[in-house]
Amino acid sequence: MIVGVPREIKTNENRVALVPAGAEALAGHGHRVVVERGAGVGSGFADDLYVKAGAELVPDASTVWRQAELVCKVKEPVPAEWPLLRRDQVVFTYFHFAADEALTRAHLKAAPVCIAYETVQLPNGELPLLTPMSEVAGRMAIQEGAKYLEKLQGGRGVLLGGVPGVAPAEVVILGGGVVGANAAKMAAGLGAIVTLLDLSLERLRYLADVMPPNVRLLHSNRHTILDAIARADLVIGAVLIPGGKAPHLVGREDLKRMRAGAVIVDVAVDQGGCVETIHPTTHADPVYVVDEIIHYGVANMPGGVPRTSTMALTNATFPYARKLAALGWKAACRDDAALRAGLNIVGGKVVYPAVAEAFGLPLAEPESVL
Ligand SMILES: NC(=O)c1ccc[n+]([C@@H]2O[C@H](COP(=O)([O-])OP(=O)(O)OC[C@H]3O[C@@H](n4cnc5c(N)ncnc54)[C@H](O)[C@@H]3O)[C@@H](O)[C@H]2O)c1
Repeated sequence: MIVGVPREIKTNENRVALVPAGAEALAGHGHRVVVERGAGVGSGFADDLYVKAGAELVPDASTVWRQAELVCKVKEPVPAEWPLLRRDQVVFTYFHFAADEALTRAHLKAAPVCIAYETVQLPNGELPLLTPMSEVAGRMAIQEGAKYLEKLQGGRGVLLGGVPGVAPAEVVILGGGVVGANAAKMAAGLGAIVTLLDLSLERLRYLADVMPPNVRLLHSNRHTILDAIARADLVIGAVLIPGGKAPHLVGREDLKRMRAGAVIVDVAVDQGGCVETIHPTTHADPVYVVDEIIHYGVANMPGGVPRTSTMALTNATFPYARKLAALGWKAACRDDAALRAGLNIVGGKVVYPAVAEAFGLPLAEPESVL
């Protein structure tokens, strides 16, 4: 099969969908790998590494899209890429169709086979191609929070781990899923006093078994949240209601109970945020202040560390890409229920319920297109 990797052109997107090791593995299995010049540079993978791995470099995206039977990307095709889409070509990437009607209609019209990273789902409900980005964001939330706690960044001037004789900082984490657990591990590792709150008792029981002793686990309710944030130096927002907006667990009035110069990193900002006063920010201008509390609301945190994010993402996506290349999309999706759940649009039909619901479009069963 011909596997194509265009350079990402969405603003500030430096990740790439295939690393040289992946190109080598595909080429070694007899596939042709066509990579746009410069595709890996933002993640630190120079063109010659792909050539050494057995890929062919091509000068522009249109050559990749014209030749490839399977296009591997990171972000959804942007309008400049829509004219390049071809009927029956497989596109494997993050799409987030339900959030964008124009994107959905462009793909219905062009009729490629769209397999969305974000809906590939294991039988136990896990979303294996979202998990690595939550891991990155959770870990990065502590790094960013520690930075903005510094005085010159506007913070309280507190070192997360303290020093012998001086108490460490208090870190409060709202939500103990993938983001929250990764944030807790990082903060605890730095020596902070960590309080992690979750609604799910089952999840709290699991976390109690795996977290170090400087992580206190509490059931999340209005009382525990208010009590915790009053003592916090750093608050991390990490709740998720699947398919819904994040609940506002910290209201505007609640900020008055917090210590001046404390920092909030609301990782859940991409779902509306769990802090009422959060709004999305960018890596170029990540923070703002409300009532003396620093707010960090970067909606694409993994984009700040593209090398790590690319490797984490491709570790998870590559086995599926390899299967699509080896078997073809129909046999691969018949064989693998997780990949089948990734099918969103096929041949001009919506086959994923949430996308059909979002825009009142007819829904075809995935099995009917296989
Ligand atoms: N900003 C970014 O760059 C970025 C990157 C990755 C993920 N995210 C976002 O981070 C959020 C968390 O993602 P995740 O992968 O950790 O999700 P997850 O499903 O693994 O975890 C969410 C947790 O929130 C808990 N929860 C739900 N309601 C709660 C409440 N009222 N109080 C306390 N806990 C509650 C759930 O029980 C669950 O354990 C999502 O909104 C995700 O989209 C953002």
